[in-house]
Amino acid sequence: MSDRDPSDMSPREGCPVHDWATDFDVMDEGYIKDPAPVWEELRDKCPIAHTTRWGGAWLPTKYDDVREMARAAPTLSNRSPGVIPPAPEMRELLIAEVKEFGSELPPISADPPEHKPYKQLILPLFSPKAVEEYRAFTENLANELIDKHIASGKMDAAVDYAQQIPPRVIAYIIGIDPGRADDFTDWTRGIIELGQTDPEARMKYRRLIRDFFQEMIEERRDNPRDDAISKLMAAEINGEKLSDYSVIGVCFLLLVAGIDTTWSSIGSALWHFGTHEDDRKRLYAEPEILPTAVEELLRYYSPVVMARRVLDPIKFGEADMVPGEKVIMNFPAANRDPDVFDRPDEVVLDRERNRHIAFGVGIHRCAGSNLARMEMDVALRVWFNRIGEFEVTDPDAVRWTGGQVRGVRTAPMRIKA
Ligand code: HEM
Repeated sequence: MSDRDPSDMSPREGCPVHDWATDFDVMDEGYIKDPAPVWEELRDKCPIAHTTRWGGAWLPTKYDDVREMARAAPTLSNRSPGVIPPAPEMRELLIAEVKEFGSELPPISADPPEHKPYKQLILPLFSPKAVEEYRAFTENLANELIDKHIASGKMDAAVDYAQQIPPRVIAYIIGIDPGRADDFTDWTRGIIELGQTDPEARMKYRRLIRDFFQEMIEERRDNPRDDAISKLMAAEINGEKLSDYSVIGVCFLLLVAGIDTTWSSIGSALWHFGTHEDDRKRLYAEPEILPTAVEELLRYYSPVVMARRVLDPIKFGEADMVPGEKVIMNFPAANRDPDVFDRPDEVVLDRERNRHIAFGVGIHRCAGSNLARMEMDVALRVWFNRIGEFEVTDPDAVRWTGGQVRGVRTAPMRIKA
């Protein structure tokens, strides 16, 4: 067993990577743009890589390893699921809060047995039946966005379309004003994008979101509504009402998880069609393959990685993990493993066998997968129905974001009705 001390890691952020097996950098620009060649190299050379960057971490690249690790709760704990660890001041604050109130963002930051009752509280909001009730709202929204831009002949598929849909849909579900979608998007970016490497931003947006939901709770205290916030306020776990801290934590998670992930998936999917004429023509000609195409795009462009903390010594293959270390749940790399997927680095729109784990696996599997699939289906269906032809104007101008969530942040397109 290794006697490495995880607190003894030297910061090497910003230095070029010479050896991905021992010094990988999830924030490296080239890696964010196209991580697949690194995963391919690592699978042959060192399938579970290690780094001392960003607080140190392990990085599995094989499907079976990622699945096994995702199922190793609570030895691999979700207490701190951020890929880039919080700054020391924030860590102190979180430790104190968790001691006083319990998990910060349940269920994602909770381990068994605390995890299950929170998951059970939110799953009904995203059941297939519940999600169908949000379809008409999503379709209207997608059509309105296209109405706004179609006459101009150009549209940024990431900014003007993909980014606009998930914040309004999740706001509608939570029971907050969809008209404030731009604020919700800014806050989410403040946490997931900017906040990864800027501790002050992370703290500022965290405070904004928590204060906002505290206000929403006060408004409902004497006048409950038919919305998720009121349902959470009325809910009980082990015979006790949830504290405000927990209601805020769940709403915070739903807001952030509902926005960045799905926006990234819709954006990457449209970027794909805008840069791959054959696939674009095929979807116009065979719209019936859309559901299979959505699964394939989820596999190929899997946007989400999460982290785990090692609580007890554990070994996977050659990797001896010691308490305190971080492990990156590399679902995107698992989805490109050639042992599981035929032609893994190609998009095959009608791929028949596709056991992707873009939504994770095990107890923390995504609670919003039905919603994400519905939003992707509607966004692509409406886009292909309304837009006669389109293409990315300058593929090199496309900007990707990475770390916790990988997705297209700007994708200017030429469009024709
Ligand atoms: C394409 C879009 C999405 C992708 C790829 C995605 C991916 C994921 C992944 C990989 C996890 C597992 C994390 C882990 O194992 O630690 C997860 C968890 C979660 N996701 Fe999603 N997600 C998406 C959309 C959504 C949406 C729309 C919601 C709705 C609010 C949502 C809510 C959640 C929640 C609440 C969890 C935590 C579940 C738990 O801890 O038990 N996600 N998601």
